[in-house]
Amino acid sequence: MRSFLGRDILGLKHWERMEYDHVFEVCDELAPIARRRRNSEMLKDKILVVAFYQPSTRTRLSTEAAMHRLGGHVVGFADAKMTRAGDFYQESIKDTVHMLEYYGDVIAMRHFQQGAPAEAAQWASVPVINCGDGWGEHPTQVLTDLYTIRNELGTLDGLHFLLVGDMRMRTMHSISYAMTQFDIEATYVAPPQMSLTPEFKTELQQMGLPFREADNVGDVISEADVIYMEPVVQADYTKAREEARGDRGRTPPQYQVTRKLLREKARRHAIVLHSLPRMDELLPDVDSTRHARYWIEAFNGVVLRMALLSLILGAME
Ligand code: CP
Repeated sequence: MRSFLGRDILGLKHWERMEYDHVFEVCDELAPIARRRRNSEMLKDKILVVAFYQPSTRTRLSTEAAMHRLGGHVVGFADAKMTRAGDFYQESIKDTVHMLEYYGDVIAMRHFQQGAPAEAAQWASVPVINCGDGWGEHPTQVLTDLYTIRNELGTLDGLHFLLVGDMRMRTMHSISYAMTQFDIEATYVAPPQMSLTPEFKTELQQMGLPFREADNVGDVISEADVIYMEPVVQADYTKAREEARGDRGRTPPQYQVTRKLLREKARRHAIVLHSLPRMDELLPDVDSTRHARYWIEAFNGVVLRMALLSLILGAME
């Protein structure tokens, strides 16, 4: 297994099964720190730099919280408009990263351009964590999802995943790569203009993922152990910032999960995950059902990022 010490976390495409298992074992070791809400001193000599060029609630705050739980320090920006990268100068990633690498020991970056964290990693002498890059990947979210599924269902093998939403989204790319490393079958449901691209389908076939596509959640939900959702009505992830204007549209019923649908058709043990934020594809009446697991992801997201930071920075092996 490749060492995590000093490693960039840019995507899950090349991750192997053992690496997932190891990260989740470290999560189990560190979870009591987060559960007790008492910070440790494991990373007291380290600084995390957050460079978020796109809005975020969960990813940035949970990464920062993880660093604090490990006794580390945090500097950075949550809005590039307050830096030279977002003003008249439009400072390049190369020039920005050549500064940031001296301000801390690891950089957590979210960017609207696919590949921006990978470019940052080329220039940075410290590790870079991709916290979501355009339509690229979102590895820390999907590691959180998988850790949640493992905890809730006791395994990641022998499961059927139903993936609903816009298949261009970065979470859908990362989870698809991850599924190839487990005994998982997948069914994808997406509007035609948001479906898996032919190139990505070929890639998944070559990586050995058994999958099919369907038109309507209601036709296939009864087979699912995991219902993994993203919006089909959303902002363009490739843009720095876009204010929502006017009618943002409504999700067609064939891409929605409701309490009624779950009660009538879902397996009793099936769980629903959503990286959030949501639109009307996942209605609030699902929140109080036996199936909802998206709130526990807030806790698991901190634990997962504690595991990654401690491994990358050498506090855990
Ligand atoms: N899950 C996720 O990426 O949420 P944020 O955009 O709030 O970070």
